[in-house]
Amino acid sequence: MLKIGNIEMKNQVVLAPMAGVCNPAFRLIAKEFGAGLVCAEMVSDKAILHGNEKSLSMLYVDEREKPLSLQIFGGEKETLVEAAKFVDKNTNADIIDINMGCPVPKITKCDAGARWLLDPNKIYEMVAATVDAVDKPVTVKMRIGWDSDHVYAVENARAVERAGGSAVAVHGRTRVQMYEGKADWNIIKDVKDSVNIPVIGNGDVTTPQEARRMLDEAGVDGVMIGRAALGNPWMLYQTIQYLENGTLTDEPTPREKIDVCMIHLDRLIKLKGEHVAVREMRKHAAWYLKGMRGNGRVRDKINSFESRADVANTLYAFVDEVEAQEAEQSSAV
Ligand SMILES: Cc1cc2nc3c(=O)[nH]c(=O)nc-3n(C[C@H](O)[C@H](O)[C@H](O)COP(=O)(O)O)c2cc1C
Repeated sequence: MLKIGNIEMKNQVVLAPMAGVCNPAFRLIAKEFGAGLVCAEMVSDKAILHGNEKSLSMLYVDEREKPLSLQIFGGEKETLVEAAKFVDKNTNADIIDINMGCPVPKITKCDAGARWLLDPNKIYEMVAATVDAVDKPVTVKMRIGWDSDHVYAVENARAVERAGGSAVAVHGRTRVQMYEGKADWNIIKDVKDSVNIPVIGNGDVTTPQEARRMLDEAGVDGVMIGRAALGNPWMLYQTIQYLENGTLTDEPTPREKIDVCMIHLDRLIKLKGEHVAVREMRKHAAWYLKGMRGNGRVRDKINSFESRADVANTLYAFVDEVEAQEAEQSSAV
């Protein structure tokens, strides 16, 4: 089972941190679909310390989401540690995670995110200072390296362990790869074989069977799922069931998908108000519709959604059509 510090997860399935996605609305859905641990989107250390309202609101945790990990990013020890202290004292998160994987230039040029991957000594220093300053367990999410010439995953994970970090999540790509190519699970296995703290494997797990394979082949303690859960939290439930008893549960119907999409939207509206929520929901709606036959008919309308009523009317009209077609087809057989 996956245990981080003294926090025990009820299974090995972890929702990956995703900026612009993993707010309380989606995290709670992931939790309701069974995720053992949910991770929040990254928040800037400096923005926390400046009291930036939007960033502080990103630290809100609903009790029902727990256990939950809040992720911070930064490039300087002083601000990172102070932000960690703030999260430690002022939030009900269970775990403080440090981002060492973000590949975006805006972040790496401030010495944050994946930039750390080039320097195991810096990792040691930053993590040790953070661990000393807080009570909550501190974890790190990293990529395997900066580029194929600088894959220091093992050294970096060892530095996290020596510094008192409680777990490490490893995305099997380099910074330079961004989201291209294939995640290298062999390096994730090398990390698992080199440290005694829990290791969570991440990258390209898109089916329950692949989650099983990640756990078996890399020997990791947990499996972190990101993109495959977008618009498809059923994937988390299916994975948990498959890992528990080897059975594959049914795919959701189009109506079930849209029902959950609307729950997601209503929670976003509560958090951010209808104007912002509906705009944010456009990308999610496209993800919920993915794989549904004939979805091209509505995909074009998504970007003009302005209100909750627009979303509900369009999506349910589509589902009604899909169901009518299915009924026609089955009566023709
Ligand atoms: C939209 C999006 C936002 C992301 N934001 C974060 C983030 O805030 N922090 C982080 O550590 N990783 C972030 N990631 C990386 C994911 O956590 C994960 O490592 C990556 O998607 C690979 O896993 P997957 O193949 O299961 O998607 C993000 C990925 C996506 C697609």
